[in-house]
Amino acid sequence: MKFAVLGGTGLIGSKIVKALTAAGHEALPHARSTGVDLLTGAGLAPALAGADAVVDATQSPTADDASADFFRVATGNLLTAAEHAGVRHAVLVSIVGVDQVPDLGYYRAKVVQEELYKTGPVPFSIVRTTQFFEYLAEIISWTGDQNAVRLPPTLLQPVAADDAARTIADIAAGTPLHTIRNVAGPDVIALDDIGRLSLAARGDNRALSTDPTAGPFAVAPDHTLTGQDGALICPTRYGDWLTT
Ligand SMILES: NC(=O)c1ccc[n+]([C@@H]2O[C@H](COP(=O)([O-])OP(=O)(O)OC[C@H]3O[C@@H](n4cnc5c(N)ncnc54)[C@H](OP(=O)(O)O)[C@@H]3O)[C@@H](O)[C@H]2O)c1
Repeated sequence: MKFAVLGGTGLIGSKIVKALTAAGHEALPHARSTGVDLLTGAGLAPALAGADAVVDATQSPTADDASADFFRVATGNLLTAAEHAGVRHAVLVSIVGVDQVPDLGYYRAKVVQEELYKTGPVPFSIVRTTQFFEYLAEIISWTGDQNAVRLPPTLLQPVAADDAARTIADIAAGTPLHTIRNVAGPDVIALDDIGRLSLAARGDNRALSTDPTAGPFAVAPDHTLTGQDGALICPTRYGDWLTT
């Protein structure tokens, strides 16, 4: 099959391209750096020509309320162009629990994006994944300084991006789900404990304290960000990933 992967140069998009290619498909990465801009539509028609399926792994430039405008325009342009190109399957990479944390503007924006897929012109699959292992260091950095790190005990079930990418690639190569599928890692771990594991693995001696009010993940209600019933569970454990 032939795939166009939008955001195919990013963290998860590049791994999806790799997974699709390893499975014997033709998968082309598209992003502004390759001449495709979803906000203006530039380069989109040639990028989608002949594609059986598109995977949307794009990211908005900000993670706040403005991201809703980005996703509205970018997703609208992508789905319209996909319909014109005769694409038969549109796959969106989204986030587990995204509709259950209304206090986060970025999550509200992803819900807007999901709605465009659900009501759009192309048969769709929405793959919600938990936080990627590769993204956890950034989460930890938001509430840390030179001397200390504060993190809430919010439960996460993070996943290796390579594992998630293989699962997304499998779904993209199948028939449209017309619904949402959750993907998670094998272990539920509180964010403050993730911080302790991560700092120890890096030989980072900063003090880490549990603070139920620290950072954006503090507002996520219990278990909203874990895999939940029916999630596809990927094998790689965070502790093993940290040591490799
Ligand atoms: N990070 C996580 O833990 C996580 C977990 C679950 C779901 N997700 C979802 O996965 C998606 C991708 O996240 P990521 O962390 O892989 O993002 P990322 O590494 O920042 O990559 C974003 C990609 O989007 C492209 N892009 C940005 N603006 C664009 C535009 N106007 N037109 C075309 N391409 C554009 C970027 O390339 P250029 O800059 O060259 O355009 C890049 O290829 C997001 O929607 C996010 O919500 C992420």
